[in-house]
Amino acid sequence: TRPIGVALLGCGVVGSEVVRLLTEQADELTARTGAPIELRGIAVRKLGKHRDVPAELLTTDSAALVAREDVDVVVEVVGGIEPVRTLLLQALRAGRSVVTANKALLAEHTAELAEAADASGADLYFEAAVAGAIPIVRPLRESLAGDRITRVVGIVNGTTNFILSAMDATGAGYAETLEEAGRLGYAEADPTADVDGFDAAAKAAILASLAFHTRVTAADVHREGIRDITASDLSAARALSCTVKLLALCERVPQADGSERVSARVYPAMVPLSHPLASVDGAFNAVVVEAEAAGRLMFYGQGAGGAPTASAVVGDLVAVCRNQVQGGRGPRESAYAQLAVSPMGDT
Ligand code: NDP
Ligand code: HSE
Repeated sequence: TRPIGVALLGCGVVGSEVVRLLTEQADELTARTGAPIELRGIAVRKLGKHRDVPAELLTTDSAALVAREDVDVVVEVVGGIEPVRTLLLQALRAGRSVVTANKALLAEHTAELAEAADASGADLYFEAAVAGAIPIVRPLRESLAGDRITRVVGIVNGTTNFILSAMDATGAGYAETLEEAGRLGYAEADPTADVDGFDAAAKAAILASLAFHTRVTAADVHREGIRDITASDLSAARALSCTVKLLALCERVPQADGSERVSARVYPAMVPLSHPLASVDGAFNAVVVEAEAAGRLMFYGQGAGGAPTASAVVGDLVAVCRNQVQGGRGPRESAYAQLAVSPMGDT
């Protein structure tokens, strides 16, 4: 069978683990997809510091890599909006499928990316964009597509959960714990995105869009971070048999006129110790989905870090490769209904 050519954009915390999985599991992945997956190149910002990957694959010319004739799939683990948005739109318009972990991009630009994918018949997969290793995008997009989801609530940022858990358990300081989250590869390049709730708001926008088959962007999500939470807030919560968690809450809200709106909010909340979300510690994430027929489902696992995130990225890559080998396609996203979205989560 013809090999599937992959362009990898980014070789940092996540990208280097993607290369490792593709290399160490090459034979198994070929057996699972039905074709060998071949890395055509790895785009980075600066050459010279990526000692664990084959030097001949590295390039700083992302545009040339994405445009290569022998590239079938572009895997993006760079982050940020530009130049990635332009590169991925070019790839999708040329019929190349895309796998991305970039929640910041998706929370703003899913509509145009999905339209480009649907117009050319390419796939757009993004399991790693929400909650690291936890399968939550695919269950919302596929497994629960026959149900009516009413609410999604969860802990979707590993860095802030790591900080709050450490502050709660040991009284550790905010700044030192944030620094450790950075060292462990959990925090975003700019950790303000984590502590001020931007990252969780982007994920809430993605979850709400998938759960309610509408378009929610980060700007629609009410957002409060954890910057002002102190050790004494946590001990006051303990005294009430609660803990503090940064929650993302997305729900359908019935309106007086019989219609429904979608509301999405990110905020630090008091969670009773008896609630399953209270015991989600460290960089773990958990998402509870409530659906009319399925009832309540809970998804739990490592929400950040190189290897867990690479697991989700490579899982998507396998799905895209299978589609290519078998002549199928993943879910289409551009034909969404337009359910009204409450501005900034107001109901
Ligand atoms: P890193 O900062 O560790 O890596 C980013 C990589 O992108 C680096 O290799 C960097 O090059 C490269 N890069 C930056 N700018 C460009 C550019 N203009 N052209 C080509 N390459 C470029 O980030 P992460 O691996 O942590 O995150 C990557 C993505 O995955 C982000 O979207 C992030 O939000 C997402 N994500 C991260 C998770 C995590 O736990 N870390 C979890 C889930 C998603 P160089 O190496 O030369 O600096
Ligand atoms: N910075 C993110 C987090 C990475 O801490 O959850 C995973 O998306």
